[in-house]
Amino acid sequence: MLEMLQLPYSGSDPLTLGICLDKSRAKEILTYHKIPNAKFLVASRMKDITGTNFEFPLIVKPISEGSSKGIFSSSFVKNTKELEDEVGRILTSYNQPALIEEFLPGREFTVAVLGNGDETEVLPIIEIRYEDFPEDVVPLYSYEAKWILDTKENNFDVFECPAKLNKQLQEKIKETVLRTYNVLKCKDWSRIDVRLDKNGVSNIIEINPLPGIMPDPNENSSFPKAACAAGMDYNQMIQRVLYSAAKRYGLL
Ligand SMILES: Nc1ncnc2c1ncn2[C@@H]1O[C@H](COP(=O)(O)OP(=O)(O)OP(=O)(O)O)[C@@H](O)[C@H]1O
Ligand SMILES: [Mg+2]
Repeated sequence: MLEMLQLPYSGSDPLTLGICLDKSRAKEILTYHKIPNAKFLVASRMKDITGTNFEFPLIVKPISEGSSKGIFSSSFVKNTKELEDEVGRILTSYNQPALIEEFLPGREFTVAVLGNGDETEVLPIIEIRYEDFPEDVVPLYSYEAKWILDTKENNFDVFECPAKLNKQLQEKIKETVLRTYNVLKCKDWSRIDVRLDKNGVSNIIEINPLPGIMPDPNENSSFPKAACAAGMDYNQMIQRVLYSAAKRYGLL
């Protein structure tokens, strides 16, 4: 609507938002550009999983959701029976295909990006430290972790920002994230989730071109957390997004 009305707006265009909402489409584009991401399969019907030879454990998630909707500890599946149960759950409860992915067992990061072109900036990297999770909780930044363990009242401190990284890994994550931002034509800002595979290679989990930005630091919203580590307060963060958009439209 804004485009029809020729009103400038901040953030990515509908094509990028749509592609990133369909995690399999986004992964197809990453794969074309040789950006590492977990091997995957889309199941639109139960029979799509017969004869698959993926190595367990796997993760099963709705193809088009966010904020860990539909991702519970049970989404981490270790055998065919669990796989069938989870695919069935996604198909019936979420009325959309299930995305089945090989599980990336390594460290997890989420990376906020601001700006466009040569001025694109990667903000301090956040690590989600699974060592600090309760012992019986599966190492997933799941619905339980985001919304049950982590509440405003409950001090859930599993985040390290800036993440402790050696120079080489830090540069690799930044490079992978920036390439992802560019090939998906993200504009002004995004938050990109990354996890290391069994060989320590940074893989893209997903791209959030419209990241959550809950203002209260106790809510542990990642983009504001990274902005704060970069020395910005909440208003400065919002203004940086706005100025990036204004500059992109030639309005400054
Ligand atoms: N292939 C994978 N291997 C290992 N862990 C994964 C994989 N895919 C997802 N996860 C775990 O599940 C979490 C949620 O997955 P994902 O980021 O795709 O969901 P989301 O609901 O879109 O998240 P967001 O809140 O960032 O929008 C990840 O942060 C990660 O912990
Ligand atoms: Mg995510």
